[in-house]
Amino acid sequence: MGRIATATDRVTTPGPERLRRLRRTAALRSLVRQTRLSPAQFVMPLFVISGKDRSEPINSLPGHARLSVDRAVARARELAQLGVGGVLLFGIPDSKDDEGTSAADPQGPVPAALRALKQADLPLVLAADVCLCEYTSHGHCGILAGREVDNDATLILLAEAAVAYADAGAQIVGPSAMMDGQVAALRGALDAADHAGTAIMAYASKAASAFYGPFREAAGSTPSFGDRRGYQMDYSNAREAMREMEVDAREGADILMVKPALTSLDLLVRAQKRFDVPLAAYQVSGEVAMLEAAAERGWLDRKSAGIEALTAIVRAGAGIVITYLAADAARWLQEDAAR
Ligand code: PBG
Repeated sequence: MGRIATATDRVTTPGPERLRRLRRTAALRSLVRQTRLSPAQFVMPLFVISGKDRSEPINSLPGHARLSVDRAVARARELAQLGVGGVLLFGIPDSKDDEGTSAADPQGPVPAALRALKQADLPLVLAADVCLCEYTSHGHCGILAGREVDNDATLILLAEAAVAYADAGAQIVGPSAMMDGQVAALRGALDAADHAGTAIMAYASKAASAFYGPFREAAGSTPSFGDRRGYQMDYSNAREAMREMEVDAREGADILMVKPALTSLDLLVRAQKRFDVPLAAYQVSGEVAMLEAAAERGWLDRKSAGIEALTAIVRAGAGIVITYLAADAARWLQEDAAR
């Protein structure tokens, strides 16, 4: 008894700094909230296929599907209605070859979708991913020389694809192949093709990550041998990530992207201090798949966990978030604003 009395006597009160003062009501919390999300900063990835009225659900990304052009336009209409900022297009061609030649086909799914979306004139930014992995039969992001990807030969094909997408109406092209010099190659080719106004969002710091699994299922782009560690970054290296961004900025990237998002928050913090260009983060397929799987089992609340992850990404420094949650998150924000 005596001992407890002595111990509690010594418990001090906190003094004037009481941080709970501003947490007392929802209105106070809202007033002092430092990081706010807006649907305008979300970009939704869309997978486009050929044909009409086709929608092939993607198993590991519930609510997402490979869409024919008409369906993609309908989806984009909904996204625009929700105030989502933009769409990022990925194409899945009917046939693949060694050199991924269909990436630059003006009749391919991405250019066709871009033309239709441009025609629809929605208040959405039209962005197109530029890579060969969806178009090569071996699933690597460039042309092979033996069992390695030939950097400089690949640049030519990436540049051709970027020009085809700009011709079709892309306002932003996003090179994601992690070839050295890809930003400069695209900038040069775009300028020469009269597309000086087309912006480049560089997948600058893109790690060789285990979190791209569902995407590869969706795009049928799993490498048939080896992995991507010969060109994508080692996620262990923060200084190298800054160098990747430095080089891309110097080559003329208009937007720098970090990917995956949740495993690269430290990189966003560093990049924000260092670069005066808009920063984007890609909350990749595996990040969302984890959340979906846990929510399905009742282990996590989907909405709360989703908003929390997105808020952390923006708090770390991303102004733009590419996310499969774009539509849901826009709806969640609307719901909360109405409350
Ligand atoms: C293409 C590309 C990939 C992703 C975006 N662009 C796949 C990869 O690098 O294997 C992954 C996106 C995601 O997982 O959502 N190179």
